[in-house]
Amino acid sequence: MTAIALDYERLKGLLTEKEISGLQPDVDRLHASLEKGLGAGSDYLGWLHLPSRTSSALLDEVMESARFVRENAEVFICVGIGGSYLGAKAAVEFSRSAFHNQLPRGLRQSPEIQFAGQNISSDYLADLFELVEGKEFCLNVISKSGTTTEPAIAFRLLMDLVARKYGPEEARKRVFATTDQKKGALKKLADARGFKTFAIPDDVGGRYSVLTPVGLLPMAAAGMDIKTLIAGARSWESLSSASSALEKNLSYLYAVLRFLLYKKGKAIELMAAFHPSLVSLMEWWKQLAGESEGKGQRGIFPASALYTTDLHSLGQWVQEGSRNLFETFFMVDSSRRQIEIPRLDNDDGLNFLAGKTLDFVNDKAYKGTASAHLEGGVPNMTLSVKDRSEYTLGRLFYFFERAIAMSGYLLGVNPFDQPGVEFYKKNMFVLLNKPGFGKGS
Ligand code: PA5
Repeated sequence: MTAIALDYERLKGLLTEKEISGLQPDVDRLHASLEKGLGAGSDYLGWLHLPSRTSSALLDEVMESARFVRENAEVFICVGIGGSYLGAKAAVEFSRSAFHNQLPRGLRQSPEIQFAGQNISSDYLADLFELVEGKEFCLNVISKSGTTTEPAIAFRLLMDLVARKYGPEEARKRVFATTDQKKGALKKLADARGFKTFAIPDDVGGRYSVLTPVGLLPMAAAGMDIKTLIAGARSWESLSSASSALEKNLSYLYAVLRFLLYKKGKAIELMAAFHPSLVSLMEWWKQLAGESEGKGQRGIFPASALYTTDLHSLGQWVQEGSRNLFETFFMVDSSRRQIEIPRLDNDDGLNFLAGKTLDFVNDKAYKGTASAHLEGGVPNMTLSVKDRSEYTLGRLFYFFERAIAMSGYLLGVNPFDQPGVEFYKKNMFVLLNKPGFGKGS
C-alpha cells in the first residue's frame, strides 16, 4: 500500500477519463515551468526542492534547541499567525496524542505545546498567562516579515513575562526567534537581545514554510522525529519532480480533479476527516489552498468538517443544501490502537456491534456518508494515508504543496502571493493611528 492514495471512483458520474487526461498537456507545460522557475511567483519557489536541500546540520541545530526546550520547559509557547503557526499545530496534532497537553509529563516526554499571536483576544492571552504561572516555559516567536501585528503584540507581552521571571541572561536561552535571515524588526530585536535565531529562506512564503524551522522546531520540541519527516517529504518531492504523468503524480491528479469540478460549478471543496487528529491539518490545508487560489475573483473555497461530529450539524446542509460543493474525504487507513466493542447486557441494544472495532464502525460511517452525499448531488473522492507517522506526514505536507501550486497555475493565478491579506491590515492600521497610515477615528 502506498503512503498516500487517491480514490476518485465516485467522481466518474461527473468527470470522464477523457476530460481528466485532456488536461495532461497543460499539466506537463505547467510542471515544466514550475521546475524551471518560469511561472508566476517564481521568486517563491524555495519550497519546491526544500526537502532535498535541507541539510542534516540544520536538522541537528533544530534538534539541539528542541532538546534544551524539552529539558527545561513544561510549556513551549509558539507565537505566530497563518503560515507561521498552522503547520506546527497540524503536525503536533497529527502525530501526538489527542490529549498531548493534558498527559502527565512522564508519558508525554516533552512540554505542552501552546500557541499565541494567532489572535488579538485579551482573554486568550490572559488565560495563557494563567496557565504558565509557576511553570517553566520557553518561547518560539515565528514571523517571516518580523512585523506582523498579532504575533508582535503577543511576543511583546510574553517576552516581558520571560524577562521578569528569568532575567535577561536566562531569557536569552529560553527565547527562540524564527524569522528572515537579515531583515525585519524581529531579526533586529532578536540579535540585540542575543536570542537564538533560525532563518526562513527568502524564497519560501509563509504557507509553504512548514518544512523549515518554522514547523520543525515546534515539532522537534513536541518529540517528533523531524529527520524522518524530512525523509518523507523528500520522497514525495522526488516522485513529483520525476513525472507529471497523472497516473504517477497524485498531487497533480488531485489538482486536476478539483479544477475540473470547479469548472463544473463546484466552487466549494469540503474536506472531511473522520479522525480528530486531522482537524488542524485541514486548517493548514485551508490556508494553503485559500491564500494560494482565492484571487482575481477565482478559486475554490476550501472548507473542512470533522465527521461524524459534523454530520450532526453540517450534515443536513451537505446532504440537501445548495449543490455547489464537492467533498474530499481525508482518511487514515488504520488507527494506532484497536478498541473492540464489548458484549454486555443488551440494555442499549448495541450487542449487534459486539466484537467489532471502532475502526470498523468508523469505516462504515465513512462509506455510508460517501454514498449518501453522492446520491444527494455532492461528488466526492477520498484521499487516504496509511498511518500517522512522521514519514507519512512529511509526504502529505509536500503532496499538498505540489498539488496547490499546480492548482493555482491551472486556475491562472499566482499561487505564491497574497495581495488581499493586506486590505484589512491597512484599515486596521488607519484605525489604530499607526505612523504612516493616516488618521483613524
Ligand atoms: O502565507 C503567508 O504568507 C501568511 O499567512 C503568513 O504566514 C502570515 O501572514 C504570517 O506572516 P509572518 O510570518 O510574516 O508574520
